[in-house]
Amino acid sequence: MKFVTDIIGEELGIFETKFSDAVKSNTALLDRVMKYIIKRKGKQLRPMFVFLSAKLHGPVNESTYRAAALVELLHTATLVHDDVVDESLERRGFFSINAIWKNKIAVLVGDYLLSKGLLLSTDNNDFEHLHILSEAVKQMSEGELLQIEKSRNLNLSEAVYFEIIRNKTASLLSSACGVGAWSTSKDAAVCNRMKLFGEKVGIAFQIKDDLFDYGSDNIGKPTGNDIKEKKLTLPLIYTLNKIQTAKKRELIYLIKNENKKPDKVKYIIEQVVAAGGMQYAAEKMNEYRDEAMKILYEFPESDVRKALEELVRYTTDRKY
Ligand code: IPE
Ligand code: IPE
Ligand code: MG
Ligand code: MG
Repeated sequence: MKFVTDIIGEELGIFETKFSDAVKSNTALLDRVMKYIIKRKGKQLRPMFVFLSAKLHGPVNESTYRAAALVELLHTATLVHDDVVDESLERRGFFSINAIWKNKIAVLVGDYLLSKGLLLSTDNNDFEHLHILSEAVKQMSEGELLQIEKSRNLNLSEAVYFEIIRNKTASLLSSACGVGAWSTSKDAAVCNRMKLFGEKVGIAFQIKDDLFDYGSDNIGKPTGNDIKEKKLTLPLIYTLNKIQTAKKRELIYLIKNENKKPDKVKYIIEQVVAAGGMQYAAEKMNEYRDEAMKILYEFPESDVRKALEELVRYTTDRKY
């Protein structure tokens, strides 16, 4: 990502120090877990969106840094909780927090990260940031809960799928772009456009994540996990709505009753590939990517805009 590094490489370096400072703890166990988390950092896409969205409208300032840290703290908290909810034992190429320290500690660590984010904002009177991000946190919880509810009776509706991913994933990316833009523009209209831009990117981002789950590439976390959790995502929803009734019944039976068996999961994935479910999801993903670009092009052409464009493309072309 040449443009992105050129434009915000320095900011990202400073961000990393600020982020590790923000999670420091005097409690021995928490300190150990925090060190583990910092060592296994992710792609840091959300801080990148914060900085670029900020820079598109003015020079980055201290409150931009705090916004980026807040967003990444909230993201990390939700990942720690999400792996408990999804019973997932791998994250970022290593054991998840629940895999090492078990669920009780993982739940509390997630709460700790959330509280650190809240303190970072309140200590500095970043109330607008907090306002924008609190909405996202609420939506993320709603999205994850809706997903659980729908996995019980196997959601077959695309509309519900999009509602889930808009809430659980796109809301945070939307807020990331919103706070970034707010930190430099203090302009509500600009902030709202950037939020919509981030939402489109976020939806494309989650479709990509759901596509990964049907593949066998090493992405640093388990694949095939969504079927195991009875999470029907776009490739499968499309397939089930398209294939003949007998086949559909068979697949639904397998998802309901044999979803923990690796060979059955593999079989379901093969059916999805054969029915064109992956291709369909990829097309939808690209539609959202293009909608995001259209909003981005409302702003004047610049190097920062070019970098944002590159980051959006990375979201859908990435390998993990
Ligand atoms: C993973 O997000 C969680 C989803 C919303 C799919 P990322 O893929 O951005 O996770 P990291 O931070 O890079 O590990
Ligand atoms: C996104 O959903 C999770 C959050 C919004 C926290 P997934 O459950 O698909 O994310 P991964 O695949 O575990 O990263
Ligand atoms: Mg998960
Ligand atoms: Mg996933």
